[in-house]
Amino acid sequence: MKLTDEQQQMMDGSKGPFLAKCIRWLVEWGDAMRAKRLIPVTNTHALVTVPGNLVWGAGQKTIDSAMELLRPACQHPVCCHSTTHITFAHEEQYDEIEMPEEQVNAQLEVMEMATDAGFLMTHTCAPYVIGNVPLKGEICAWTESSAVVYANSILGARTTRHGTESGIAAALTGFVPEFGVLLDENRLATLQIDVTAELRTPTDWGALGYFAGKAAGLEVPVFQGATRPLQEDAKQLCAALATGGGITMCHIAGVTPEAATLEQALGGKPPQRTITFGDSELREMYNQLRTHSDEAIDTVILGCPHASLQEVAEIALYLKGKHLAEGVKLWVCMAYPTRANAERLGYAKMISDAGGYLFCDTCPTNSMRLDAKRIVTAGFKQAHYARNMIKTEVIIDHTKACLDAALTGRWSHGG
Ligand code: F3S
Repeated sequence: MKLTDEQQQMMDGSKGPFLAKCIRWLVEWGDAMRAKRLIPVTNTHALVTVPGNLVWGAGQKTIDSAMELLRPACQHPVCCHSTTHITFAHEEQYDEIEMPEEQVNAQLEVMEMATDAGFLMTHTCAPYVIGNVPLKGEICAWTESSAVVYANSILGARTTRHGTESGIAAALTGFVPEFGVLLDENRLATLQIDVTAELRTPTDWGALGYFAGKAAGLEVPVFQGATRPLQEDAKQLCAALATGGGITMCHIAGVTPEAATLEQALGGKPPQRTITFGDSELREMYNQLRTHSDEAIDTVILGCPHASLQEVAEIALYLKGKHLAEGVKLWVCMAYPTRANAERLGYAKMISDAGGYLFCDTCPTNSMRLDAKRIVTAGFKQAHYARNMIKTEVIIDHTKACLDAALTGRWSHGG
């Protein structure tokens, strides 16, 4: 890889040993991916947290190894707009949870250091719903696969899928290796998916994403024939695409900023394959994530990826004046700024008066803090991972059906 003088000097230690290590990670990764150069990045979304879940905590070894990365990292100011991915719990929950003291203390230390370094400690899997909205063509370095697909496909920004070290290294050095969807030629669609099913809810869009993710693997699909998605639809589509397969971007003809037409998405070439997503495929995707042995439910999870204020408002207004069925939990996951807005506007109170819980900075599957036998959720990603990570039966359905299940304690077919 050819480095600029500035990059070479950084690698030689001009900005200290930690940044030299960071740029070496990026160069080694780039070499492995056959990148020819490092290019400037102006927007990052990194995992800056002590990992661990709310059941077992992190363990001292994990805490030590996280702090070995985060302490030196936070001694350097970030180079650009840098938000952060989820953590294990919001600090206002620390009193309610039984986390080992050493994990809580380490995380509080990270919060203070990282804030001083300029990281915006947003702790969300959906940075675009709380104001991190890069522009078309902007080079980014984002962690969280669902957000990566959203940035590339809906915003027209450019990011490969980042991990912990590469996200932090990009934020601190201001560079990323140029490969994959950062290059025009790798953004073209090769798989055409004709959408003939009617997509009536965001969860239907999730079903499309789950289907396309499985079908495409690492290809770039283009959707033809679907109606225009709203933000909530796009959020479900992108999360499910990254769950069903290893997709980094898709095109929706007429919606993706660089794909005004199907021909443009395909780069003027014919697709290598064309498949159809019709009513039977739609039904099949729902069936794959309905693993229940009974219709009595104990838990409802909404806000995967993290809910927008609009979604929180709709949930609140649906629940206003009602109460959850005895013994049923409703967890609505969101970023803290969304909860702060919902509190100010009265929506948070409507949800908590009905018996629901606004869960911030993480989600039940990620935190594994959920004692559930049978959950209903509107997010394909949550349903897919909950099956194994929290070992529960799952039922996927759209938001209103989930809320009806929360109010009655029974799921009745709404999909
Ligand atoms: Fe976010 Fe958890 Fe879903 S991290 S994308 S709410 S599985």
